[in-house]
Amino acid sequence: MSMDGRTCVITGSARGIGRGIAEHLGEEGANVVINYRSSEAAAREAVDAIESMGGRAIAAQADVSSDDEVEHMHDVCHETFGPADVLVNNAGITADKQFTEMTREEWDRVMDVNLGGMFNCTQAFYDDIWNAENGRLINISSVVGKQGNFGQANYATAKSGMFGFTRTIALEFAQGGSTANCVAPGFTRTDMVESVPDEVLDRIVSGIPLERLAEVEDIAAVVRFLASEESSYVTGEVIDVNGGMDL
Ligand SMILES: NC(=O)c1ccc[n+]([C@@H]2O[C@H](COP(=O)([O-])OP(=O)(O)OC[C@H]3O[C@@H](n4cnc5c(N)ncnc54)[C@H](OP(=O)(O)O)[C@@H]3O)[C@@H](O)[C@H]2O)c1
Repeated sequence: MSMDGRTCVITGSARGIGRGIAEHLGEEGANVVINYRSSEAAAREAVDAIESMGGRAIAAQADVSSDDEVEHMHDVCHETFGPADVLVNNAGITADKQFTEMTREEWDRVMDVNLGGMFNCTQAFYDDIWNAENGRLINISSVVGKQGNFGQANYATAKSGMFGFTRTIALEFAQGGSTANCVAPGFTRTDMVESVPDEVLDRIVSGIPLERLAEVEDIAAVVRFLASEESSYVTGEVIDVNGGMDL
């Protein structure tokens, strides 16, 4: 199995895209840290699902926007599995409003989780990934970071901020042989798009050349490749997984 014995920390992995990534990596033999903020029951289910496939997993509660909680998750990972080989910064939130209506609090909240969480987790696990053989940092951005989206000035800013961060860390990691990449999913069928009205979703799908939303598995399969040793010459990239939305 391509991930045998590699320790992978995936933020926000009790549900949605993170859950799909955790299960794909667990299935390949990884030791998986399922991070959650509030979805404890779902995190336990994710652990059970990975264990039932013969993998090893633990649930670790931490709000990624809190450096103390992230530090604690780092300690839990070390106590159970040792240093991490792979960190996937997946946890993310939206707080949509047309810009004139957007409050500073909604701006800050999105920055604190999407960018602040990436900062806290990358800082906590930086040395682990640097020292790992084939260490991997994978940041889950969005097509919205490239294209912008009506009512998402905060989210689009945070998601495009991930590109510059990833390229910079890729340069810093390169000497040690570890890599850093972004995955930029298109609209993916999870709770995050659940609240989007059907007529808006229909309009979105009509603009996607492959004529469908992404499934969690579409994103997880690309993350699995980036997390594996097979991707060792790919670094500093933004990999689009969006059904051709840029064409
Ligand atoms: N769905 C899409 O169309 C789409 C498209 C492009 C990019 N993305 C990106 O993909 C990532 C996952 O999205 P998704 O669709 O799976 O979202 P989702 O279904 O809304 O799930 C969000 C996940 O993030 C976690 N989370 C939120 N705030 C957190 C915090 N402060 N600390 C720790 N975990 C936190 C949640 O954990 P709890 O449940 O435990 O609170 C949950 O597991 C996000 O970064 C999102 O921006 C999504």
